[in-house]
Formats: sequence, structure tokens, C-alpha cells
Amino acid sequence: MFHYFYKSQIILTVALLTGCLTANAEVDVDAAKSIAKQNNCFRCHGVDKDKEGPAWNKISAKFKADPKAQEKLLHHLSSGEVAKFPDGHEEPHAILKSEDAKQTQNLVDWILSL
Ligand code: HEC
Repeated sequence: MFHYFYKSQIILTVALLTGCLTANAEVDVDAAKSIAKQNNCFRCHGVDKDKEGPAWNKISAKFKADPKAQEKLLHHLSSGEVAKFPDGHEEPHAILKSEDAKQTQNLVDWILSL
């Protein structure tokens, strides 16, 4: 009995580690930056610098503990939901134009990895 429990712990640990490693390896940083550039995201966001929009590493920190982070950011980038600007005005947020859902996902993964 003890033996069986111990073994399943090892298998679980290995599975979790592999999961983490693959998740990281999947982000294509160059592709993410390139699609962000094409969409003028950097006009309002820096990787670690606030512009009109918050720095992306702050956004990543804000969503770190949120299991729905991916879903929320995908919604944010496709719906034109209201964005609040530092001067207090509100306008629909830019919608990401991408021909490939994988590229959109990759950008979200990159932002959340910052
Ligand atoms: C005209 C300026 C502007 C542009 C262009 C812009 N953003 Fe934003 N973005 C903002 C502002 C302002 C906020 C803060 C919204 C809020 O807190 O209500 C924001 C918030 C965000 C958030 C966080 C959303 C959240 O729920 O906290 C993400 C992610 C984001 N932007 C990604 C992008 C990406 C990717 C692009 C390029 C397609 C982009 N932004 C283009 C101004 C901009």
C-alpha cells in the first residue's frame, strides 16, 4: 500500500514538471513581439514600462493567481471591452487582428509569462 502511494507521487511530480516545461517551451517570443508590433500594442504598452496602458509585466502579475487568466485576456483582446485610461476617459480597447488563433494564444501566453 505504502509502495503504491509513493510510486503515484513520483508519477504525479514528473507529470507536473513536464507540464510546466512544455508550457514554457511553447511561447514563441519573437512571434508574440511581431504580432504586437503589427497591431501597435506597444504604442500604449511596454513590457516593463507603463505608457497609456499598464506595463505587461504588471498585467502578468495581476493575473498570476487567476485560473481564468487566459480566457479573460483572450476575451479582452477580441471583444473591444471598455478600457479605462490614466486620464480617466474610457474607450473600447483595441481588438487584436490575427489570422491565426494560435498566434493570438501565443501572445497571451507571452504576456502572462512576463
Ligand atoms: C490606445 C492605447 C492602447 C492600445 C493601442 C492597446 N492597449 Fe491594451 N490597454 C490599454 C489600457 C488603457 C488598458 C487598461 C484597461 C483598464 O484597466 O481598464 C489596457 C489593458 C490591456 C490588458 C489588460 C487587460 C485586463 O483585463 O487587465 C492587456 C492584456 C492589453 N491591454 C493588451 C493589449 C494588446 C495585446 C494590444 C495590441 C492589440 C493592446 N493592448 C493595445 C490601452 C491600449
